[in-house]
Amino acid sequence: MADLILGQVLSFSADPFVEGPEAARLDSQGGVLVEGGRIIAVGRAGDLRAAHPAARVHDHGRALISAGFVDAHVHYPQTAIIASWGKRLIDWLNLYTFPEEMRFADPGYARVVAARYFDLTQANGTTSACSYCTIHPESVDAFFTEAQARGARVWAGKTCMDRDTAPEGLRDSPQSAHDDSAALLARWHGVDRLSYVITPRFSPTSTEAQLEALGALWAAHPDCLMQTHLSEQTDEIAWVKALYPTARDYLDTYERHGLLGRGGLYGHAIWLEEREKARLREVDASLIHCPTSNTFIGSGLFDMAGLKADGHRIGLATDTGGGSSFSMLRTMAAAYEVAQLRGRALHPSELWWLATLGSARALLADDRIGNIAPGMEADLVAVDLASTAAIEQATARAEDIWQALFPTIMMGDDRAIRSVWVGGRKVK
Ligand code: GUN
Ligand code: ZN
Repeated sequence: MADLILGQVLSFSADPFVEGPEAARLDSQGGVLVEGGRIIAVGRAGDLRAAHPAARVHDHGRALISAGFVDAHVHYPQTAIIASWGKRLIDWLNLYTFPEEMRFADPGYARVVAARYFDLTQANGTTSACSYCTIHPESVDAFFTEAQARGARVWAGKTCMDRDTAPEGLRDSPQSAHDDSAALLARWHGVDRLSYVITPRFSPTSTEAQLEALGALWAAHPDCLMQTHLSEQTDEIAWVKALYPTARDYLDTYERHGLLGRGGLYGHAIWLEEREKARLREVDASLIHCPTSNTFIGSGLFDMAGLKADGHRIGLATDTGGGSSFSMLRTMAAAYEVAQLRGRALHPSELWWLATLGSARALLADDRIGNIAPGMEADLVAVDLASTAAIEQATARAEDIWQALFPTIMMGDDRAIRSVWVGGRKVK
């Protein structure tokens, strides 16, 4: 049976960074008809009701109906160490992250955390995510198994680390990283809504031999995405320069091993040199902005305005648990604050686009998710624009949708997420 979801329907016909707020379309009395996991029709509520009298109606009144949020860079194994106090990147990895990731040698623990991760993020309106797992292949099985049971479109990969900069017990080898990744790819890639992502953690924890092996794996499977970290903190960049003395820059440690290209996802990308920016743009790679992480770990201020103006492909992400929130609303707020510190106020349409269609585009999946249009997969949220007393009073005199939406972007949390549909199935 078809479902007819009614409310203020927000969708995009273009990129608002290019076209301005007119790139967004709002139908204040709109409807979305969903059947078989897909969006079948979009239009006026009254027209859709008349044309589909048998559909089950979900009337959300003044709530905003949007594509679900797409989180383009997360570490689901770091769910339990979110908001760990007092460290910058390298110490934070050693003190909190690596000990927690070691626990994923236990497949039972991996299953528990994977389920908890999806419970927390779906409650926040996130319908798709691209996750790092741990070095343990079972951590990938746990994530994909949970996503498959929930019908979610996700991306994930085994995190590869073989250098002695990673602790004993959390290291693989060039050969095992290649072979385990290849086996997981064969098991999961393209099954239901699941996609495998080749995942070298970052240059400081891989040997050149491992980067080479994973570059070869990507060349053999060019339809896969590849994810890693790039130029997050200045201390990290100095470390890369010491470990790779002949590399031209941080990006070159990837580039010379076949790990630069379209479908490459480069997390953080804050302290880029001109050559790096030019090459990333030239190959049409994806940069993933993780603003709550960048402020929480003290990394720096991503140049959204400059990089978008230069035509870079950019997605938005929580980076949990380096990021301090599971909410893409909070993540949009942090992106706004970071951009303000660089002198550019991002428009609500730009923030919403980044959290939905922009991230989908960064994952090369904007033909399937991240927008509301006939034929797209039915990952949707209904957002209450007056979910708390503070937000309600701030929107009382709103004169347009952006004034009505911005307080929810800045102050909203999971209470604003009234309903969530994943693949056409209501999960909240
Ligand atoms: N760089 C390498 N690994 C990580 C990680 O787990 N989190 C963050 N924020 N940066 C990283
Ligand atoms: Zn990360």
